This record gives sequence, C-alpha cells and structure tokens, in this order.
Amino acid sequence: AVGKDDFNAENQVACCSFPLSFAAEGNATIGGCCACNAGGVAVLRYGTTRDLVLGVEVVLPDGRIYNGLRRLRKDNTGYDFKDLFLGSEGTIGIITAVVLKLFPAAKEKETAFCCLNSIQDAGKLLNRFKMKAGSSLTAFELISDLPIERVKKYLPDIEVPPLSDSPWKVLVELSLEKKPQESMMEHILEGAFEDGEITDAAIASSLQDSHTFWHVRESIPLADRTAGGSIHSDVSLPISLIPEFVEETSAMLLSAYPWLGLSIYGHLGDGNLHFNFVSPEDPGATYRNEEGIREILYSQVNKFEGSISAEHGIGMLKLDHNYQFKDPLEIEMMRKIKNAFDPKGIMNPGKLLKAE
Ligand code: LAC
Ligand code: ZN
Repeated sequence: AVGKDDFNAENQVACCSFPLSFAAEGNATIGGCCACNAGGVAVLRYGTTRDLVLGVEVVLPDGRIYNGLRRLRKDNTGYDFKDLFLGSEGTIGIITAVVLKLFPAAKEKETAFCCLNSIQDAGKLLNRFKMKAGSSLTAFELISDLPIERVKKYLPDIEVPPLSDSPWKVLVELSLEKKPQESMMEHILEGAFEDGEITDAAIASSLQDSHTFWHVRESIPLADRTAGGSIHSDVSLPISLIPEFVEETSAMLLSAYPWLGLSIYGHLGDGNLHFNFVSPEDPGATYRNEEGIREILYSQVNKFEGSISAEHGIGMLKLDHNYQFKDPLEIEMMRKIKNAFDPKGIMNPGKLLKAE
C-alpha cells in the first residue's frame, strides 16, 4: 500500500521498485515472503523482508484483526509486533496486508563474474567492493566451481559465460543512480586483479549478458536436484569466519563421507551460505546419511556461532536441529509468545515450535 502523501507525484511510484529478489520470486507471494521473512540476493543492500516492511495487518488466532498498517520509520511506543509477525511462519497470526518500502529503481547496473583462487580472496574482494562501491554494492554471490560444473553438465541448455578455471567464482552486481563516466566495476576489478584477489573476470556488456550471468547462479539449485541426491541448507556465519568455516567443515564432511558431492554457494555479502550436497552416483546415499551430514554441518555452524537457517526458516524440517542448537531460553521465550497469542495451538501447529 503506497499512500499518495508519501510521494510528491503519483507517477513517481512507477519509478520505484520493491527490491526483494530471489530465484523463486516468480512463484512467491508477498504474504509468503512476509510470513517467512524472505531474503535472497539483494539483502546486502536492501535488507530482508523485515527491513522492507513498514507495517502489517494480521488476523489473530481469536479472530480479531490487528491493524498495524503504519507508515512510520520510527515508532518507539512499545514492543515491535511488526518484526514479531514477520518470519513467524504463520504460528501466531495470518498477515493479510502490509505497507512495503519502495526504492528508486536503479537506472544502471553493472554485473561481473569473477574467478578467484581461494575463498580467502573472496573475503578480501567483498571488503574491496564495500569500501569502493559503498551502497552501490547490491549483490555479492560466492559460488564454488563444482555447482557451476553441474550446471554445465546437467542443464546443458543454459549458457555459461566462458570463465577460466578457478576453484571459486563471485557474481557481483552494482546498482547506480545514473550511468557513470567510467565503469565503476572495471575500476574496482582492475585493482583486485593487480592485488591478486581475482585471476579473471567477465563484465556484462549488456542487460542480456547480465541476465545470462544471473541465470547461471539461479539455476544451481535445479542443477543439483537434477544431479541427484540433493540436500540443502541455508546457514549463516560471521562473514570473517566463513573461509575457515568452509575449509574445516568441507574437510570434516569429506573425511566422513568421501563420496559426498559438495555444492557451496550463496550470499557471501550476508554471511549466508547454501552448504549443499549431492550424490550423483548413488542418489540415495545423501538421504541415507542425511542425519550424520547435518550433524557435522550444524555442529560446525554452532561452533562458529552461526545460524542453522539464515533465510529459509525452520518449518518442520529443521525443528529438531533448532531445538538442539538454539539457546533453550530463546525457545522458552518463543513458546511463551506462541502460547500468549495462540493458547489453543491452532496456528500452523508443529512448525517453528513443536506441537505441545
Ligand atoms: C538461493 C536460494 C536457494 O539462494 O535461497 O538460490
Ligand atoms: Zn539463498
């Protein structure tokens, strides 16, 4: 809902964009994004759904309607119910309307695929972009070479830009208010190349190129599923610990399951990795060993002070692991909130919290 008084002229609304962006957005609903606090590829610049919603209307379990459709940036009059309902997975009420924040639509985008020798270099490159591009930095996606090879092998119709061999790739995007005199992307990548952070890069020279680059990134989940035995995760970690986390965790997993195919990619700019697995030779192998695989992964996440779900939520699939790794006091506080809103346990029972 956009109020006219938020803009000088009505037609300015047409120049604005709602910047939540993820591969499955074509099938997503605003309500679903709000209930699950969806993230995606532009969180680095715009935040998650929680950051993009100003107010909510919610049907409460007792049938009353909570009208919190405010348009305020600041409201310090008590507990924050907006953030409570967003991401509550339908367990304390049903969000029926929201006020969304809109942003000026970016006039120009620069997109590049970079090749890197190490994940440490990806951390350095991220810092370089943060320093040099500031708020123009919209997306910074890390991808290991294995999932890209799987896109080539299992989805041969997808065009993959010719990139030199390297164990890691980064897909980076800048959004600009106007066309710069000189390419900001080229300038930053030249510095990165001179300092040895990247070994090669392809810069999109057209919108079509940019779509091609993003299509590769967005096809990875399908390529993994096509390869067979795909199990996925969406962990988050303090960004500076990610290189050590990835190296140590990969080594532990491969030592326990030498046949395991790793598929590591994700939103490095948000500290959010999809640390996924495939077993093309024997698609049942990952599923038979899923408990052990997740135990290693999540124990490592816990050791590095991360979260077992950065963006996909808990639902039922991650319920046991959430109870295992989340502070019992937090689970207790969640339970008290659930019971206060939904004493009869009728709202999406068994999700996020175990049914009592
Ligand atoms: C992605 C989805 C799986 O980042 O979260 O591709
Ligand atoms: Zn994701």
